[in-house]
Amino acid sequence: MPIPCTLIPGDGIGPEITEATISVLAAAGATFDWERQVAGAAGVAARGTPMPDETLESIRRTRLALKGPLETPIGEGYRSVNVALRQTFDLYANVRPARDIVPGGRFEGVDIVLIRENTEGLYAGLEHYIRIGDDPQAAAESVALVTRVGSERVVRYAFEYALRHNRKKVTLVHKANILKYSQGLFRSVGQRVAREYDGRVAYDERIIDAAAMQLVIRPEQFDVIVTTNLFGDILSDLVSGLVGGLGLAPGANIGKDAAIFEAVHGTAPDIAGQGIANPSALILAACLMLDHVGDRFRADRIRRALEATIKAGRILTKDLGGTATTSQFADAVISHIS
Ligand code: NAI
Repeated sequence: MPIPCTLIPGDGIGPEITEATISVLAAAGATFDWERQVAGAAGVAARGTPMPDETLESIRRTRLALKGPLETPIGEGYRSVNVALRQTFDLYANVRPARDIVPGGRFEGVDIVLIRENTEGLYAGLEHYIRIGDDPQAAAESVALVTRVGSERVVRYAFEYALRHNRKKVTLVHKANILKYSQGLFRSVGQRVAREYDGRVAYDERIIDAAAMQLVIRPEQFDVIVTTNLFGDILSDLVSGLVGGLGLAPGANIGKDAAIFEAVHGTAPDIAGQGIANPSALILAACLMLDHVGDRFRADRIRRALEATIKAGRILTKDLGGTATTSQFADAVISHIS
């Protein structure tokens, strides 16, 4: 039975990489019943808002979405449509796996899953200016909101993810030495949850600055990483850089009632409309979606075909050093599906 799924092609390179991804999914025999919807700049153009009700209702119904990158038009009342979508559906865990598949890259043996808290921290949107004398913007204050419940569910998700995917270790990344309350709470909740998994999943901790250095010096020591929102945002781009860049980095936004799968990268306005974007990140995001709905078989089939295409090195998009178009690359992936 085809699985109902909301499909948001998105803005910029979004529609190009979405078409490529759908053709790869179809070739692997994955059948989804796509409900096409718009958001971001396409949402403003079609329905006058970056977050149309129809799109939100569709996600509420299907509880599953594959989404291209979205542009947040200035002056539409949203800081970021992506952040707003995550908060609307309470998608508390952002899962970003990174594995080196490009041969001859700078690092070997990188296989990291970064799990970022997705709804709290400095992204809670609690910001304001403070007037001093006649300067209304003399200072600015942002609140990093960390709750026990929010910390516990994302750390638990990381441990459950580790168990499900046969991972050995969860590393909690924090800055509790300085931010003793907010980061301290995240860390102490993490230590308590970790004790429940004692003997099944190993646990260690790193301070964010040391983690950043270690990730560059010896990335192979990391397995699953769990951290708060802003650190996760920064580290996930760092981690994607270890394995060949944004064109290869998928992400999953997981909540209790819905899950949205997307590429980590944005709309790439500099190459939009040229048909040269790398669709790998969205294809890999679709694989995470297949994992999520229990179709690990087809997910692995596509992942193997994508890896074989990249390792063959003949048909690659420009960001990977080749000259192939988006659709030529997708066709090459399809030809490797066995
Ligand atoms: P970006 O990720 O769109 O682009 C950064 C660089 O990476 C550009 O040179 C671009 O050409 C390249 N790139 C990105 N994806 C690529 C791909 N698949 N193939 C080949 N090259 C690729 O980041 P930028 O320029 O900071 O943001 C552009 C827009 O995207 C902004 O409006 C931003 O708000 C939005 N954005 C949306 C996201 C989402 O929907 N999840 C995430 C990040 C940014």
